[in-house]
Amino acid sequence: MSVLVYVINGPNLNLLGKREPEIYGSETLSDVERDCCEVANSEGLQLRFLQSNAEFQIIDWIHEARERAAAIVINPAAFTHTSVAILDALNAFEGHVVEIHISNVHKRDVFRHHSYVSGRADAVMAGFGTHGYQLALRHVGKLIRDGA
Ligand code: DQA
Repeated sequence: MSVLVYVINGPNLNLLGKREPEIYGSETLSDVERDCCEVANSEGLQLRFLQSNAEFQIIDWIHEARERAAAIVINPAAFTHTSVAILDALNAFEGHVVEIHISNVHKRDVFRHHSYVSGRADAVMAGFGTHGYQLALRHVGKLIRDGA
Protein backbone atom coordinates (compact mmCIF):
# COMPACT_ATOMS: atom_id res chain seq x y z
CA MET A 1 0.00 0.00 0.00
CA SER A 2 1.43 3.40 -0.90
CA VAL A 3 2.02 6.06 1.70
CA LEU A 4 0.91 9.63 1.08
CA VAL A 5 3.47 12.47 1.07
CA TYR A 6 2.64 16.15 0.62
CA VAL A 7 5.08 18.31 -1.33
CA ILE A 8 4.12 21.91 -0.58
CA ASN A 9 5.59 24.90 -2.41
CA GLY A 10 5.22 28.50 -1.28
CA PRO A 11 4.97 31.88 -2.97
CA ASN A 12 6.48 32.67 -6.36
CA LEU A 13 7.50 29.07 -6.99
CA ASN A 14 4.80 28.96 -9.68
CA LEU A 15 7.28 31.15 -11.62
CA LEU A 16 10.09 28.61 -11.37
CA GLY A 17 12.06 28.48 -14.63
CA LYS A 18 11.19 32.10 -15.44
CA ARG A 19 12.03 33.76 -12.13
CA GLU A 20 15.72 34.58 -11.48
CA PRO A 21 16.97 31.49 -13.40
CA GLU A 22 20.56 32.31 -12.39
CA ILE A 23 19.48 31.47 -8.81
CA TYR A 24 16.67 28.94 -9.23
CA GLY A 25 17.57 27.29 -12.55
CA SER A 26 15.56 26.74 -15.70
CA GLU A 27 13.31 23.84 -14.65
CA THR A 28 9.65 24.73 -14.19
CA LEU A 29 7.52 23.58 -11.26
CA SER A 30 5.82 21.13 -13.65
CA ASP A 31 9.26 19.64 -14.43
CA VAL A 32 9.89 19.31 -10.70
CA GLU A 33 6.49 17.68 -10.19
CA ARG A 34 7.17 15.19 -13.01
CA ASP A 35 10.57 14.26 -11.51
CA CYS A 36 9.02 13.95 -8.03
CA CYS A 37 6.31 11.63 -9.39
CA GLU A 38 8.99 9.36 -10.90
CA VAL A 39 10.86 9.15 -7.59
CA ALA A 40 7.61 8.66 -5.68
CA ASN A 41 6.69 5.72 -7.93
CA SER A 42 10.04 4.07 -7.40
CA GLU A 43 9.84 4.65 -3.62
CA GLY A 44 6.24 3.41 -3.38
CA LEU A 45 4.99 6.84 -2.27
CA GLN A 46 1.81 8.59 -3.32
CA LEU A 47 2.25 12.33 -3.90
CA ARG A 48 0.12 15.38 -3.41
CA PHE A 49 2.19 18.11 -5.12
CA LEU A 50 0.97 21.65 -4.33
CA GLN A 51 1.87 25.31 -4.73
CA SER A 52 0.25 28.45 -3.37
CA ASN A 53 1.09 32.11 -3.02
CA ALA A 54 -1.28 32.35 -0.03
CA GLU A 55 -0.11 31.61 3.52
CA PHE A 56 -3.58 30.46 4.68
CA GLN A 57 -3.73 27.90 1.87
CA ILE A 58 -0.39 26.40 2.88
CA ILE A 59 -1.59 26.20 6.49
CA ASP A 60 -4.83 24.51 5.39
CA TRP A 61 -2.86 21.94 3.39
CA ILE A 62 -0.67 21.19 6.41
CA HIS A 63 -3.86 20.67 8.47
CA GLU A 64 -5.17 18.35 5.75
CA ALA A 65 -1.85 16.44 5.79
CA ARG A 66 -2.25 15.88 9.56
CA GLU A 67 -5.14 13.54 8.84
CA ARG A 68 -3.70 11.82 5.79
CA ALA A 69 0.04 12.02 5.22
CA ALA A 70 3.15 10.33 6.58
CA ALA A 71 5.48 13.17 5.58
CA ILE A 72 5.61 16.73 4.30
CA VAL A 73 8.36 18.06 2.05
CA ILE A 74 8.00 21.83 2.13
CA ASN A 75 9.64 24.71 0.34
CA PRO A 76 7.94 27.60 2.15
CA ALA A 77 9.85 30.09 -0.06
CA ALA A 78 9.71 33.61 1.41
CA PHE A 79 7.34 32.44 4.20
CA THR A 80 10.34 30.49 5.56
CA HIS A 81 11.70 33.74 6.92
CA THR A 82 8.44 35.29 8.15
CA SER A 83 5.81 32.74 9.10
CA VAL A 84 5.28 31.70 12.70
CA ALA A 85 1.85 30.47 11.52
CA ILE A 86 3.39 27.88 9.18
CA LEU A 87 5.74 26.78 11.98
CA ASP A 88 2.73 26.37 14.32
CA ALA A 89 0.86 24.33 11.69
CA LEU A 90 3.89 22.06 11.18
CA ASN A 91 4.22 21.65 14.95
CA ALA A 92 0.72 20.15 14.88
CA PHE A 93 1.80 17.60 12.23
CA GLU A 94 3.21 14.35 13.59
CA GLY A 95 4.93 12.86 10.54
CA HIS A 96 8.32 13.56 8.96
CA VAL A 97 9.01 17.13 7.83
CA VAL A 98 11.74 17.98 5.32
CA GLU A 99 12.40 21.66 4.61
CA ILE A 100 13.88 22.31 1.21
CA HIS A 101 15.33 25.34 -0.56
CA ILE A 102 16.50 25.29 -4.14
CA SER A 103 19.20 27.88 -3.48
CA ASN A 104 21.70 27.90 -0.65
CA VAL A 105 19.93 30.47 1.50
CA HIS A 106 23.00 30.78 3.76
CA LYS A 107 25.05 32.18 0.89
CA ARG A 108 22.45 34.84 0.18
CA ASP A 109 20.96 37.91 1.94
CA VAL A 110 21.21 37.84 5.73
CA PHE A 111 17.41 37.94 6.07
CA ARG A 112 17.30 34.52 4.37
CA HIS A 113 19.59 32.95 6.98
CA HIS A 114 16.84 32.54 9.55
CA SER A 115 14.07 29.99 9.05
CA TYR A 116 11.07 29.64 11.36
CA VAL A 117 10.32 26.29 9.73
CA SER A 118 13.70 24.81 10.70
CA GLY A 119 12.43 24.89 14.30
CA ARG A 120 10.23 21.90 13.34
CA ALA A 121 11.93 20.32 10.32
CA ASP A 122 13.56 16.91 10.84
CA ALA A 123 15.88 17.61 7.91
CA VAL A 124 16.82 20.76 6.01
CA MET A 125 18.19 20.91 2.47
CA ALA A 126 19.49 23.99 0.68
CA GLY A 127 21.51 24.56 -2.46
CA PHE A 128 20.87 21.28 -4.29
CA GLY A 129 18.89 23.08 -6.99
CA THR A 130 15.61 21.52 -8.07
CA HIS A 131 17.31 18.09 -7.80
CA GLY A 132 16.93 18.54 -4.03
CA TYR A 133 13.25 17.58 -4.28
CA GLN A 134 14.19 14.14 -5.58
CA LEU A 135 16.80 13.72 -2.84
CA ALA A 136 14.25 14.76 -0.22
CA LEU A 137 11.72 12.21 -1.46
CA ARG A 138 14.35 9.45 -1.50
CA HIS A 139 15.14 10.34 2.11
CA VAL A 140 11.44 10.21 3.04
CA GLY A 141 11.11 6.86 1.25
CA LYS A 142 14.00 5.45 3.28
CA LEU A 143 12.61 6.77 6.57
CA ILE A 144 9.26 5.14 5.84
CA ARG A 145 10.86 1.85 4.72
CA ASP A 146 12.95 1.83 7.90
CA GLY A 147 9.80 2.39 9.95
CA ALA A 148 11.23 5.60 11.41
C1 DQA B 1 13.75 29.65 -1.61
C2 DQA B 1 14.65 30.64 -0.85
C3 DQA B 1 13.83 31.75 -0.22
O1 DQA B 1 14.67 32.64 0.48
C4 DQA B 1 13.11 32.53 -1.31
O2 DQA B 1 12.27 33.52 -0.73
C5 DQA B 1 12.34 31.65 -2.23
C6 DQA B 1 12.89 30.36 -2.62
C7 DQA B 1 14.57 28.59 -2.36
O3 DQA B 1 13.95 27.61 -2.77
O4 DQA B 1 15.78 28.73 -2.55
O5 DQA B 1 11.30 32.06 -2.75
O6 DQA B 1 12.93 28.98 -0.67
